[in-house]
Amino acid sequence: MVTDVPYCALDQIAANPEVQRVREVAFAALHLEPGQRVLDAGAGTGEVARLLSTRLSGTGSIVAVDASADAVATARARDEGTCVRYAQGDVCALDFPDGWFDAVRCERVLKHLAEPDAAVAELARVTRPGGRVCLVDTDWESVAVDGLPHPLVARVRTHLLATVVGQHLDMGRTLRRRLLHAGLRDVTAVPVALYFADPLSAAAVLPMVNPMVPAAAGLIPADLREEWFGALDEAGERGDFLATITMWVAAATV
Ligand SMILES: C[S@@+](CC[C@H](N)C(=O)[O-])C[C@H]1O[C@@H](n2cnc3c(N)ncnc32)[C@H](O)[C@@H]1O
Repeated sequence: MVTDVPYCALDQIAANPEVQRVREVAFAALHLEPGQRVLDAGAGTGEVARLLSTRLSGTGSIVAVDASADAVATARARDEGTCVRYAQGDVCALDFPDGWFDAVRCERVLKHLAEPDAAVAELARVTRPGGRVCLVDTDWESVAVDGLPHPLVARVRTHLLATVVGQHLDMGRTLRRRLLHAGLRDVTAVPVALYFADPLSAAAVLPMVNPMVPAAAGLIPADLREEWFGALDEAGERGDFLATITMWVAAATV
């Protein structure tokens, strides 16, 4: 599956301080040590894989796998001499022997998959006994806002939940269960509430408050679009806008 998120959106997400806070929790959960083999599965344009390379001071080997040939090519083009190796591949059928990696991470990928548990099993298969698996995903049903008219928010929320189909909107909160059912041990799950105090910073992470997301994406009902973005502008000008969303970092030992 090719990403449905444009790379500029991935870049905006990566640059957001609240997302960086989530990634710090995920880094810590991997228990990385110099010289280790690490996999970022569904790595997109490789931003986090290159950060991992910095964390390991260029030691060890980092592999960034993504299903999209375009994402892999973009990731390679952006690399300026790190130790990251980029490869096209499917997180549900990875081309690595059992136990190959010391640590494996997978961020915001499982929610797109038809069989996320097959992916979790595959991530565990390529991790050595005693190695770490870390999953990061969003709970899209946790979005909450303030500073906007409540009936308007309710209508947009109802529309979103009915429109965004084919994705696991609750994926974040299910990660712990999936690791447990895959037979991993020392399972932990940390909810990280991302907090945005203005519509502009929220727009980097929440597409429904981003006026640059084309109307054709259908996130906001056509007849509410003007009212919705007008209300967001007004809340931003008053300074009383607030939005939160919870991302989950779940980790375990194989
Ligand atoms: C929302 S992006 C997240 C990228 C990156 N993990 C990040 O956090 O910035 C989802 C990525 O998962 C990739 N992807 C989707 N299905 C995949 C699969 N079955 N195997 C590997 N990658 C997949 C997409 O191509 C896309 O790059």
